[in-house]
Amino acid sequence: MVTFVEASSRAKRSAGVIPVHGEEGFAGMRKAGRLAAEALDMLVAHVEPGVTTLELDRLAFEFARDHGAIPATLFYKGYRHSVCTSINHVVCHGIPVDKGLREGDIVNIDITLIVDGWHGDTSRMYAVGEISRKAERLIETTYECLMRGIAAARPGNTTGDIGAAIQRHAEAERMNVVRDFVGHGLGQLFHDEPNIMHFGHPGTGVPLKPGMIFTIEPMINLGRPDVKVLADGWTAVTRDRTLSAQCEHSIGITETGCEVFTLSPAGLFNPLAARAA
Ligand code: MF3
Ligand code: CO
Ligand code: CO
Repeated sequence: MVTFVEASSRAKRSAGVIPVHGEEGFAGMRKAGRLAAEALDMLVAHVEPGVTTLELDRLAFEFARDHGAIPATLFYKGYRHSVCTSINHVVCHGIPVDKGLREGDIVNIDITLIVDGWHGDTSRMYAVGEISRKAERLIETTYECLMRGIAAARPGNTTGDIGAAIQRHAEAERMNVVRDFVGHGLGQLFHDEPNIMHFGHPGTGVPLKPGMIFTIEPMINLGRPDVKVLADGWTAVTRDRTLSAQCEHSIGITETGCEVFTLSPAGLFNPLAARAA
């Protein structure tokens, strides 16, 4: 059974309870989401051959510190960094390391910044120099999957409508949706109800209501959907070692649709569109 509660009284997650937020929550998410997007914008100029993901992590940490924000992943369940950096066949939760990026790599950078207690969670793809045509196709398709999911996020639809829209587009492009990780409610909590699956059937799941706040963050593989987590306990990779991409926005359901809290102020969210411009 699904119940709904006022988000303001909420200190910890309880299963099956979906918070609905008011104007205060939307205002908080606007601020946190914008700063997280600005952090990812700042990194664009730094992603080039030779830069290490540890350097990118440090830049993100300093950006957060200088803007009065706290990186939510720092010391989260033992994680020790301000961003996740997932390169090529890494699906998500890649750990920053002291090793340079190489020409042709594609990398997802995922950041969550806490501003005044609210969590802005966003990730996007970066291309390191010239990338292959198939890597470009993967990034374009993943971006389009996210945007189709967002287009389905409105009252009258369900969480299943979001997943179905994403899965339909990925499979039409002969790519596959990762099943093992989902989008999530957030707000004053980092991970809350509801879960947002990036696959599924129209009309199933939870009805979307104004005030719900959650992420959509599809991971799309060029090959099989199967993933495994490496011995470090974090790094998820494709089992068949094919390329994977992800992008993520934090959104809030409104009366007529949704508001995206993590849009790039500089218009750099989709690296291919940004490059063409
Ligand atoms: N930001 C990720 C998400 O989209 C969560 C990362 S948790 C970490 O939900 F510990 F791996 F950083
Ligand atoms: Co997320
Ligand atoms: Co994230």
